Order: sequence, then C-alpha cells, then structure tokens
Amino acid sequence: VPLDRIRNFSIIAHIDHGKSTLADRLIQRTGGLSDREMSAQVLDNMDIEKERGITIKAQTVRLDYKARDGKDYVLNLMDTPGHVDFAYEVSRSLAACEGALLVVDAAQGVEAQTLANVYQSIEHDHEIVPVINKIDLPAAEPDKVKKEIEDIIGLPADDAVLASAKSGIGIDEVLEAIVQRIPAPKGDRTAPLKAMLVDSWYDPYLGVVILVRVVEGVLKKGQQIMFMQHGTQHLVDRVACMRPKLEQLGELAAGEIGIITAQIKEVSQTRVGDTITDAKKPTAEALPGFKEVQPVVFCGLFPVDAADFEKLRESLYKLRLNDASFSFEAESSAALGFGFRCGFLGLLHLEIIQERLTREYDLDLITTAPSVVYKLSLSHSKYEDAKVIELHNPADMPDPNRIEMIEEPWIEATIYVPDEYLGSLLKLCQDRRGIQKNLTYVGGRAQITYELPLNEVVFDFYDRLKSISRGYASFDYHQIGHREGDLVKMSIMVNGEPVDALSMIVHRAAAEARGRHMCERLKDLIPRHMFKIPVQAAIGGKVIARETIAAMRKDVTAKCYGGDATRKRKLLEKQKEGKKRMREYGNVNIPQEAFIAALRMG
Ligand code: GTP
Repeated sequence: VPLDRIRNFSIIAHIDHGKSTLADRLIQRTGGLSDREMSAQVLDNMDIEKERGITIKAQTVRLDYKARDGKDYVLNLMDTPGHVDFAYEVSRSLAACEGALLVVDAAQGVEAQTLANVYQSIEHDHEIVPVINKIDLPAAEPDKVKKEIEDIIGLPADDAVLASAKSGIGIDEVLEAIVQRIPAPKGDRTAPLKAMLVDSWYDPYLGVVILVRVVEGVLKKGQQIMFMQHGTQHLVDRVACMRPKLEQLGELAAGEIGIITAQIKEVSQTRVGDTITDAKKPTAEALPGFKEVQPVVFCGLFPVDAADFEKLRESLYKLRLNDASFSFEAESSAALGFGFRCGFLGLLHLEIIQERLTREYDLDLITTAPSVVYKLSLSHSKYEDAKVIELHNPADMPDPNRIEMIEEPWIEATIYVPDEYLGSLLKLCQDRRGIQKNLTYVGGRAQITYELPLNEVVFDFYDRLKSISRGYASFDYHQIGHREGDLVKMSIMVNGEPVDALSMIVHRAAAEARGRHMCERLKDLIPRHMFKIPVQAAIGGKVIARETIAAMRKDVTAKCYGGDATRKRKLLEKQKEGKKRMREYGNVNIPQEAFIAALRMG
C-alpha cells in the first residue's frame, strides 16, 4: 500500500462515551464484518470486558475504505482502553499512530479522562479530530460540548463531526475526516527494517503474537529478525493483519501496522517498546523505548482452601501470559497460610485479575488490604550499610529504629464535578491529606486539581467520589513521585499477639481513628472464648486503641449437664471440627470469615 493511502489512528475517549460502539460501526461500514458478526462488540473479546464494557487489551483492525475522492485507503484503527489504570497502553497505541478521533459524549461533555488522553495524544504530535457522539440522545447539547472542547482542551471544534454511533449517524463523515485530516505516515521503505513492538500477547492457537508498527524498511515472512534490546533473534513465520478476522499478508512496509508470529514461546521474551530490526542488515539506531510500567498497588491473594494453592499458582501464571503488567510472588502469612503477593497497575486492574481468578479459574480467594510502594531510608546496622529499600508489604516493615525516613507515592488528580457536589468533594480530598492546586469553573462544573498521597486513594477514594457526586464526578490521575510522610506501621494484636495479615501502614494523624475502627469491628467478628480477649491497635509497642471481647459465661458442654456421654462427646467433636477452620492467635481462635470481613473494609 502506498504511504499516502494509509491512515493510522486511535480513538480516545472517556469511559462510556461510545468508543467501542463507534469502532464497531467503522468496521461494519467498511465491510469488515457481516451484520450477524456485528451482534457482539467485536473489539472487546474477553468476557469480563464485555460485562464491564471496559476495553482492556489494545487491538488493531485494518479497514479498507473507498473515499469520496474515488481512491482506496487502508485505515488502521487502534483501540485503546479508557481507564486510568491502563494509561500506559493508551500511550503505546498512540505512539504507533499519526492521529486520533476524540470521542466526546454529547450529553456528558468533556470528562477527566478525555483530558488526560488528549494531552497524551498532543504529546505524540497527533492530528486530533473531535467527534461529538450520541447526538441522538434527547439530552445532547452538541454546541455546549463544542464550546467545552475549545475552552477546556483548547482544540478548535468548529468542524467537529456530529455522530451517533448507535444510530449510525455521521459515520461516513468520520471516515472522510480520517482520510482528509489525519496525515499519512512517513518512512523510507528502502532503509533497513526498523519496527516498533507495540504489544504482544499469547494466543492458544498462534502462540505469542506481536503487534508491530513498521517505521522504516519492510518486514517479511521468512525474515530473520532481531529484538534490539537483548539481541535475540527469531524467524518470522507469519505476517498478518486483523480485519478483525486474521488475514495473512506477505509483508508489512514502513507506515503499516500488523501482527507477526515468530515461534516465540513466552510473552516474557518480548519487550513492549523494543525495536525490531533485520538480523542480517540491522538499522543503525533503535527507536526510543517506552517507559516500563511498574505495579503501584500490591495486595496478598490467598486461597480460602489451602489445597488450592497450586491451582492459584497455575492460574496466576496463565493470566500473566497475557498481562505482563502484573506481578506475583509466593508469600506466607501465619493467619492466611500460603498465597501470593501480587502487584497491579491500579485498583481496577486488581479487581479485574481477582475477578478472572474467581470466575474463569473457579478460585475462592482472600484479598488482603491493598498497599502502595513505600521507599524506606534505613540507617546502617551491625550487619548492613545504610540503604534505601522498597516496601510492598506492611508485614515486612524493618526494625523501626533503623528507619530514618519513609516516603510514599503521590499523585496529581484531576476531578470534574457538578457544582452542587463541590463542597463534599473538597472535604473528601482534604480528609485524604490532599493539597489543592487549582479550581476552575466550566459551564456549571468545577475542574479541580489536587495532589494526593496514593495511599489515601487506593482504599475507597473512587467509590466515595462516586457516591458523593451520585456518579457525576469523573477522576483521573498520574503519579508525581515519592514524598516524605509521617507514616507508621499499625499492628493489630489479639490477646497480646500481633496478627500480621491485619497490619497496615497509615499516616500518624489517621492511625488512632483507623485503629479504633479496626478494633471495634474485630470485637464483633471474633467469637467469645472462655476468657477475656483484648483486641488492640498499636504503633511500635504503644497501644492506641483497645476493645475487649467478654468471656463466655458457660462451658458449651454445661448444657448437657447430666446428659449422656455420647452426646457430650459429639458436641466436643463438633467443636474440634470448627477449630480446624480457625487460626490460633495467643490462644484465640479467629475464624477465617473474621479476617475476610476485617480486610474487606480495609
Ligand atoms: P469503554 O470500553 O468502557 O471505554 O467504553 P466505550 O467508550 O467503548 O463505550 P461503549 O461503546 O461501550 O458505549 C457505552 C454505552 O453508550 C453503551 O451502552 C452504548 O450502547 C452507548 N452508546 C454508544 N454510542 C451511542 C450513541 O451514539 N447514542 C446512544 N444513545 N448511546 C450510545
């Protein structure tokens, strides 16, 4: 395909503004799928994605389009996920395109993620075509939304395309705008091969599949290629594109996007952002790589039934084949037994993995409270020099006497909220140690920028935000580095013994309230024993909150006083069985359910 007949674009949008629906419509209009095949949203191919309507993996589809100028064009559409947790995938797809369709809901207007995505797109020098979608809705206000696009984003919106992906209005206009306004790719096809590894995933039939954007030269079947980062070589055995069904091609030339397979066994052998070149005639200079993604939220996953440990390991391994962005390593806890410490890109990512384990792999799991990554500066000890360590698990907190400084990750959050909820929203941010940076009004809504410790956001910030604003607030964030904080490890002790699975790192000012809350809950969750049980929250040996579980009044067997011996024995046996499902702490049996309930609320 000649360069001037190619257009590479992505669709960026806030969640639910209609990105997938529009993508499906474009596929349908250009003849990629029959009506029957259209029945399901084709770009979202995972079960959970469908149910939640969230696009997880970026996908690319090649469309053939005969434009009004009578010429045939090849349009490569890259789908991008909308949620903040997957921002890094958006960035990757954008790097492979020359332009983007900016989809904005005609009734909702510009939202936090619209903005975040547009900024990324601008950073990649994209031509951005605004598309105002859902104009079929009675509440649609296209002119107001145009003004928002101009005022908030600063993009001219006069020639924004008005569309309804659902009713099929404006689809041809969208296609024409892609051809006329998005620039064709550039690239020397006679130069040595230089291609960007945009994404890779495991397919049960094809093995590891690699999504590439060829920047210079030509990529062919039968070619010996080299991944420049580690110098590893592979033989290309398939060059193809998705329409969205797989179609084999002979080659991909500069400017084109497609997929290849090269008999690679594991996704871990491929590095997203790597440069692919010809092993025999390598390019002189690699492309600038992408920033590697690091998990930011960690939690423990434990099987409720200890016998499921191996099954959990296998399931995690399988999930990782297609998602290199989450990490796991074995962990053991006195309270919860053997499990895994897992790292995620954010809370939604955590939830998705957890849900897939439960649903697709049929596992019953306990999730410990999520924690962020702290940086600890330690003074030297008898055995070790001073050093800085990363802490992913409150249970691994080193000797407090050696800690000179704890730093926690901070984020900058952008929030859009209708006026009437502004007060409660500011209070929420303030309560979470937020620092207000900016507040402006745009058409009945406030745009607020806050700096917040991530630690205060991972628990239930998003849920609170949504409930305070009746679902109307939108939120987006990015990390802005670590800052020193007055942070302490709070331990929970039952009958004088610390319960590791319940310990957490909190800000000193919030510790007492958190500790009291936890003790009160545990008091209701732990059954009575023959003796009084103190439940305490403590910071480094100093008790900051305390509750007492009263002793049981009578022996259980007292009921059977004078009764026959078999009945008494049966009762004792029953008690023993119950005990198996409990864990012992300082002679106190804590049922598993108590842990789960205590951890659920974080
Ligand atoms: P994520 O994949 O979660 O990022 O969402 P998305 O932006 O892909 O949105 P999606 O296409 O799933 O659409 C969200 C909802 O809006 C769905 O219920 C669609 O049926 C609906 N929708 C999409 N386009 C239109 C439209 O033009 N008009 C109306 N009325 N509804 C639409």
